[in-house]
Amino acid sequence: MSSGPTIGVFDSGFGGLTVLRALLPLVSSAHYIYLGDTARLPYGSKSRETIARYAVESAHFLEARGADLLVIACNTATALALDDIRHAVNIPVIGVIEPGARTALEALPQIRVPHVPLLGHGSAPNPDVSTHPQILVLATTATVQSHAYRAECDALGMIATEVACPLLVPLVEEGWTGHHVTREVLRIYLSEALTECAPHAVLLGCTHYPLIAAAIEAMLRELGSDAIVIDSAAATARVVARTLNGPTPSNPSQPATFECFATDSVEKFQRLGSIFLGQPIPKVELLDLGG
Ligand code: DGL
Repeated sequence: MSSGPTIGVFDSGFGGLTVLRALLPLVSSAHYIYLGDTARLPYGSKSRETIARYAVESAHFLEARGADLLVIACNTATALALDDIRHAVNIPVIGVIEPGARTALEALPQIRVPHVPLLGHGSAPNPDVSTHPQILVLATTATVQSHAYRAECDALGMIATEVACPLLVPLVEEGWTGHHVTREVLRIYLSEALTECAPHAVLLGCTHYPLIAAAIEAMLRELGSDAIVIDSAAATARVVARTLNGPTPSNPSQPATFECFATDSVEKFQRLGSIFLGQPIPKVELLDLGG
């Protein structure tokens, strides 16, 4: 095991392994404990109360297991339960939403405007869409309904259109990342979204979507959009690295170590999780967090 910090990484399932994948080379001095609450996935269709209860139980487990820092690698849990988790544990907690939104802002310097908080949507007067970066956020239904991304984007002077894409998680879970059905589903979601907005950036607001980032980008081009695609997994890993490493990069000669826990089939976690992580997962321990 490494001599560096222990980082707990939590997701509702395998998807957060895309965040762990981005973290491993960036903070290679760390030991990682990954927990996928696969027995209770998906979170994206559940109520705020249920998501908060599940996420807090997982956070308690990771803190008790020795985590010095917690990364909530689940957009839905970040959107609906970040405050609950922060109140429940005594270690720093980093979620995925703020890093994702900030990265969108940083990636669009040519249209960045002086910080002017927007007045909100709906009854508020229309903000000047020509001077504010337009962001299309793709996420689960629960994340979209929470408007957590919209609030974060508003605070950064960007205008967010949030679109729920509930079919994408099961398609990715099925391993259909290059399948023509996934392309057709993307065509429907994105062509509808592009009638609502003309985004400068598309923010992948769900852990599963980085696995189909190339398909999303290709479909955007096919539909005539030149929006850039922002991956909140990579953005979050950079924030964790900055928090822990400061300006000094991690020593790449010291490989990170990790252990994985899942609340349902360890065999499925090993098989599917290896695709998300981009490397074999030698061992997964089964964990019972209750119902
Ligand atoms: N991890 C969830 C997210 O990032 C997607 C899967 C789920 O709905 O639980 O929003």
